[in-house]
Amino acid sequence: MPRILDGKTVRDQIKAELKPRVAAFRESTGRAPGLVVVLVGNDPASEVYVASKTATADELGIYNETLTYPATTTTDELLAVIARLNERPEVDGILVQLPLPAHVDSQRVLLAVLPEKDVDGFHPCNIGAMVTGRPAPKPCTPAGIIELLKYYQIPVEGKHAVVVGRSDIVGKPMAALLLQQNATVTICHSKTRNLAEICRTADILVGAIGRPAFLKAEHIQPGAVVIDVGVNRVDDYGLAETIFPPERLANFAKKGYLLTGDVNPADIEKLASAYTPVPGGVGPLTIAMLMFNTVGAAERRIAQA
Ligand code: GUN
Repeated sequence: MPRILDGKTVRDQIKAELKPRVAAFRESTGRAPGLVVVLVGNDPASEVYVASKTATADELGIYNETLTYPATTTTDELLAVIARLNERPEVDGILVQLPLPAHVDSQRVLLAVLPEKDVDGFHPCNIGAMVTGRPAPKPCTPAGIIELLKYYQIPVEGKHAVVVGRSDIVGKPMAALLLQQNATVTICHSKTRNLAEICRTADILVGAIGRPAFLKAEHIQPGAVVIDVGVNRVDDYGLAETIFPPERLANFAKKGYLLTGDVNPADIEKLASAYTPVPGGVGPLTIAMLMFNTVGAAERRIAQA
């Protein structure tokens, strides 16, 4: 039986370590670290994520605001919002929830966030700092995965890590962080030839493509550590039948869908030495790392003031 890498345990440890830092910050500044989330439009998944982020901030005593704008908001209007937040001294972190509506120039909006307030680690300055090993906020999901690997003492140095997916949010920064831990890193994507063959050489396989159970037995080396970043809703019963065992299908009838990662769960069970479950693996870490970045940004801003 493979070992389950439980993200909730690691999340709880990260949060427990943040509490005294928030208290010390309050003590020395007379205020809480401050986070503002900018939410544009009515994407239901984004609304759920943002609600979770603000609930976690509340729990840790981090001051937070959510600014919501209609889907019709223009790039210029958002740039003006960001400019005002950059100016507010009590705002340590600014998070623009993605995706933004298609007509908005997301790159320009993300570039407008002051690097020192960029708690997502998406600003090119912070990406550059990360790639060159300088201290800076790191993108939350891959940074959380590195914390998880450390917590479970999974060796990374000298291992072959294969990251499937090259998004700016997960795949690319994941590869950079694994490289920094001295893994040998391969990034695969939709144009990669011989995907299964490459994946089968992975000691650490990271699925970050957003396609339900796309990676299967043929992609998993026996004994591999599988990190599954995907959270995919399967609402087609025929597809669900090919992925889930009968006992889980019972839940499909109740909810009308089931969640699965990018890697087939039954094949993980058969082949992996350790894996992150979906849900409960990588998911809980992202928000914990956002809080970590917010507290870190607040501390650095005060130290520099
Ligand atoms: N949308 C999905 N994941 C993320 C994330 O990590 N940060 C932001 N800002 N938006 C997201």
